[in-house]
Amino acid sequence: MNDFKPGLEGVVAVETAVAAPDREGGALRYRGYDIEDLVGRYPYENIWGLLVDDDIDSKMPDPEPYVPQGLTGNAPADLQSEVAHLAGEWRLQKLVDIDDAQARTDLGRLSAQMMGIVARSAALAEGREPAPDDVVARGETAAEKFLLRWRGEANPDHVKAIDTYWICTAEHGLNASTFTARIIASTGADTGAAMSGAVGALSGPLHGGAPARVLPMLDEVARTHDPEGYVQSLLERHQRIMGFGHRVYRAEDPRARLLRRTAQELGSPRFEVAEELERVALAALREYKPDRPLETNVEFWSAVVLDVADIPHDLTPAMFACARVAGWSAHILEEKRTGRLIRPSAQYVGPAERPASAVDGAPVPS
Ligand code: ACO
Repeated sequence: MNDFKPGLEGVVAVETAVAAPDREGGALRYRGYDIEDLVGRYPYENIWGLLVDDDIDSKMPDPEPYVPQGLTGNAPADLQSEVAHLAGEWRLQKLVDIDDAQARTDLGRLSAQMMGIVARSAALAEGREPAPDDVVARGETAAEKFLLRWRGEANPDHVKAIDTYWICTAEHGLNASTFTARIIASTGADTGAAMSGAVGALSGPLHGGAPARVLPMLDEVARTHDPEGYVQSLLERHQRIMGFGHRVYRAEDPRARLLRRTAQELGSPRFEVAEELERVALAALREYKPDRPLETNVEFWSAVVLDVADIPHDLTPAMFACARVAGWSAHILEEKRTGRLIRPSAQYVGPAERPASAVDGAPVPS
């Protein structure tokens, strides 16, 4: 029987108690709590605790003093390499050799440090010196500390934008990067290897890189005042409209709803053009693919919210990685507890058995 599913769509690969995206788009729940009820009530670090420890009063720890060496200013690449490096620097042990409590400690240390690495990489890209530890320590929340490290100051609207974005994107079931993290964890590797691999998976435009491509779309529409023409020209060239469509949702992504509201509350200067492009794109996509719902996904409004905090668009994959450290950590721990190597099968579709003498130019046996 041929049960191969391209892209593993619809294939159940793991059981999880961390979060459940609701396919019809009603809600996204973290450990049973609707994210609508969490945003604004708890800061990101408590959401980390909720996802990892199933305890909203538990928190991601504060970052410990550490100055990464060899940053390049390319934040996803810096994050990927520095996290792998930290595994060596901190002598993190393999998941198979440690208990759950130690794995949780390692994941907390890494998560907190990952935000600092992105902040430092962003500062470097702008040619500024990252703020010292005493300035960062003045921040109350993870989002505030992140901005303080990067810019030496933390505008409250920027903090709200980042905190909301991080909470909305902290976890989302078995997406490509989380699956990657679980696969690596299932081999018994250390937590640094699992987190670093996840960052690599997330850096692609079809997963975490989409917001970086949304703002240029908004710029183009603001310049031409012709959203219809812009959208049609993309579809005629069979290009994808970034920020639309989703592997799971067949309705509006609930995170898009929350982030749209946040963009409006924060007075985003791009709100109107984004709303206009969204309206036009949805209408065009309905006509283009009448049988496949292609609705707004989290990335579209993420781009607008992050823009409120003056996040350069090429930094958005790394911002997404900062958010997702919670989901990755929770899934790595869950995977560790299963103790089962992930190793699916491939269906061989190559040539049938053939002799080496059939290769062109093969030496003739003497
Ligand atoms: N614009 C135009 N056409 C689209 C879009 C889009 N945004 N999304 C899907 N389609 C089309 C595809 O071209 C395909 O058409 P075809 O059958 O003629 O080839 C059809 O709809 C089905 O698309 P798939 O790629 O099979 O759908 P899948 O579930 O694999 O894709 C994905 C989901 C990758 C998110 C896709 O919708 C996409 O590329 N969107 C744009 C990128 C984006 O916004 N990424 C962020 C996703 S959210 C996240 O990762 C957190």
